[in-house]
Amino acid sequence: MGSHRLLLQLLALLTTVTKAKVFSRCELAHILQEEGLDGYGGYSLTDWLCMAFYESTFNTAAQSIKADGSADYGIFQISSQLWCTDDRRPSDDGCRIACRDLLSSNITDDIICAKRIVRNPPGMNAWEGWAMHCKGRDLSEWVEGCDL
Ligand SMILES: *[C@@H]1O[C@H](CO)[C@@H](O)[C@H](O)[C@H]1NC(C)=O
Repeated sequence: MGSHRLLLQLLALLTTVTKAKVFSRCELAHILQEEGLDGYGGYSLTDWLCMAFYESTFNTAAQSIKADGSADYGIFQISSQLWCTDDRRPSDDGCRIACRDLLSSNITDDIICAKRIVRNPPGMNAWEGWAMHCKGRDLSEWVEGCDL
């Protein structure tokens, strides 16, 4: 009985641990490369890294609520206004996904949605963090020492 409860507590703890994650720069670089983002939509791996850093500081649990009642979710701060659904307001739900799913440590769904977003005409300009801090700059330092 006692060990059963301990096992349940351990499982609960593990579930909590897998819910959110803060990636290191090179760890994220490897994942984004494996998922085919280097060159995707005409943007290099360093653009994607720089964008993710200025949007979420590589934290999958990042969430920010906007003045209009929409919110941005996850490592790429994907907006509930256009791309995912939450219970705050109606959404166009372009990625057909629940916003809360974008907060987990598994960023596969975030990447699929980000690919969808960057294919739109504004490209990576959809992300203010990228437009303000990364666009047109030398971004080579973002993959420095990552052994890609
Ligand atoms: C991450 O999620 C995707 C589906 O979104 C799934 O196919 C994959 O197995 C998951 N990866 C891990 C490590 O759980």
